[in-house]
Amino acid sequence: MSLPPVIAIDGPTASGKGTVASLVAQKLGFHYLDSGALYRLVALASEKEGIDTQKGPELSLLVPKLLISFKNNQIILNGSDVTEAIRTESIGLRASVVAAHPEVRLALVDLQRSFRQLPGLVADGRDMASVIFPDAILKVFLTATAAARAERRYKQLIAKGISAKLEDLLQDLQARDARDSNRGAAPLVIAEGAKVLETSDLSIDQAVKTVLDWYQSAIA
Ligand code: C5P
Repeated sequence: MSLPPVIAIDGPTASGKGTVASLVAQKLGFHYLDSGALYRLVALASEKEGIDTQKGPELSLLVPKLLISFKNNQIILNGSDVTEAIRTESIGLRASVVAAHPEVRLALVDLQRSFRQLPGLVADGRDMASVIFPDAILKVFLTATAAARAERRYKQLIAKGISAKLEDLLQDLQARDARDSNRGAAPLVIAEGAKVLETSDLSIDQAVKTVLDWYQSAIA
């Protein structure tokens, strides 16, 4: 019996892949995996437990202790709603340090694959196509220029009433890009066979439509 289909959407931070991936999932009635949220949860838990972010083996031991549930756009960790807490810039940066440890990545593999259920899955992250779902029916590398991504992040934060400086955001995301692209374990790469979607000049609707069209062609 063949496994449920997967659409893998990878890309750098603030590329809009989360928004596009969840809308594609909604349109197709598929499940959705936000793999970055899992690294953010490990980052948050490590901060709460006072575990040094340089200690890969200790961080990986946290993973089996995490009771995670994704419900109605809410993320619950060990009974607490952490939906907002994991979205801060500092947890994003901490997540990128935590995610560089091969032990942490390995500890999260089975959990990520468990999201592959009928009728299908849209998975977003950095290594969905290269490592977690190499047999994905469609692989998309969604990106935008650093300036466009910083501006999107800026607008999101301002809309939420959170003050931010465009220049700081640009620096943070360049640091995160460098760490995600240069690490030894599962670096951010354009996977073989992936289609590149440059979204700097596309609306969300246009990006979603492109992915849906590619999916229709892939299954035809
Ligand atoms: O996508 P998001 O910004 O939420 O991810 C937070 C961090 O988690 C990224 O900067 C990256 O270092 C890490 N990550 C990863 N592999 C994934 C998803 C996220 O290394 N599949």
